[in-house]
Amino acid sequence: MLDIYKLGEDVLYTPTEKVKKFDSALKMLIDAMFDTMDEADGVGLAGPQVGVSQKLFVVDDRKGNRIAFINPEIIETSVEVGPYEEGCLSVPGVYHDVIRPLGVTVQAQDVNGKAFTIKATGLLARIIQHENDHLNAKLFIDRLSEDDRAMMVKVYERKNKTKKRKK
Ligand code: NI
Repeated sequence: MLDIYKLGEDVLYTPTEKVKKFDSALKMLIDAMFDTMDEADGVGLAGPQVGVSQKLFVVDDRKGNRIAFINPEIIETSVEVGPYEEGCLSVPGVYHDVIRPLGVTVQAQDVNGKAFTIKATGLLARIIQHENDHLNAKLFIDRLSEDDRAMMVKVYERKNKTKKRKK
């Protein structure tokens, strides 16, 4: 299992680099990310969250879409936007509505480097945008108003105070 980095750790705000090598190390990393996401009961996990500053994330929308996105690029977003309550494995215990486009078209590569395009709506579109934000050094709380963000940081600190550095 991989360690999940939390709010306040630099790697979450470090720019990511394109994946160039589609080798066995990449496959092992992606497998470990799926396992870590499952273990943490998450629906998405991005490279920076496990200390890897590379453009990749994994998703499982629990509706049959279990997908690794390497070098993803959102090439189209719907005009329609809406709120949805988001959370993040890097900001545990914190949930807040975020307004985003309801649909996206994303281009990416799979673990073998093969290109694919997905037109997503619903939860899948939501997760893709949340995870893609991680690749651009942005957490979901960074999309809130300044006041709401500050409130969420307080909630996070209160809920995670006693859990820090247990090992
Ligand atoms: Ni997240």
